[in-house]
Amino acid sequence: MNTLDAIKARRSVRGFTDKQISDADLETILFAGGQAAVGGADFKSLKLYAVQDPELLKAINETSAKRRPGSDPLYGAPTLVVLASSKSILENIEFTNAGCIIQNMMVAAADLGIDSIYLWMAMYGINGDPELIKRLGFPEGFTCVGTMALGYAAKEFPKVRGNEQRIEVTYIK
Ligand SMILES: Cc1cc2nc3c(=O)[nH]c(=O)nc-3n(C[C@H](O)[C@H](O)[C@H](O)COP(=O)(O)O)c2cc1C
Repeated sequence: MNTLDAIKARRSVRGFTDKQISDADLETILFAGGQAAVGGADFKSLKLYAVQDPELLKAINETSAKRRPGSDPLYGAPTLVVLASSKSILENIEFTNAGCIIQNMMVAAADLGIDSIYLWMAMYGINGDPELIKRLGFPEGFTCVGTMALGYAAKEFPKVRGNEQRIEVTYIK
């Protein structure tokens, strides 16, 4: 797939099958995350965790669902990538770094035919539960700044509003 096709193929999936992605694909996706632009090249401020332990996924899902009772924040995904960050050398840049890293990983996943979704809700769940942070193994001073689910869609999820430009653009020449 060329890059633009992979960008266009990515869409948020909110229902996954149990089928796990391969270790090789997971490694490729995490590698893509590590190739993202990061402010000040402060790569030491960031850590990626690939969670496939069903018990831990269940615990993250349950804690994250407390904000919205009855919800299923992880949508049954068999893999959750958790991004943690300490304070960066550049003030307030952590969530922007997260956006670059997670977008890279979602596009790489799309290129491999793997479905994904950026999950803010799981971040709230993790940061609100010291026990989850301990189980994930974040070092002191690190908090979750983003998460992304990976797997295979349980049904077809069309791209929201198709493939047209979705953001208003102004050309100033
Ligand atoms: C930073 C960020 C956080 C998001 N968090 C959630 C989330 O917690 N749950 C969810 O269902 N979708 C979440 N989304 C997905 C957006 O709702 C989705 O990207 C948007 O509806 C556009 O659809 P598309 O991704 O299919 O193009 C998040 C997206 C971004 C960029």
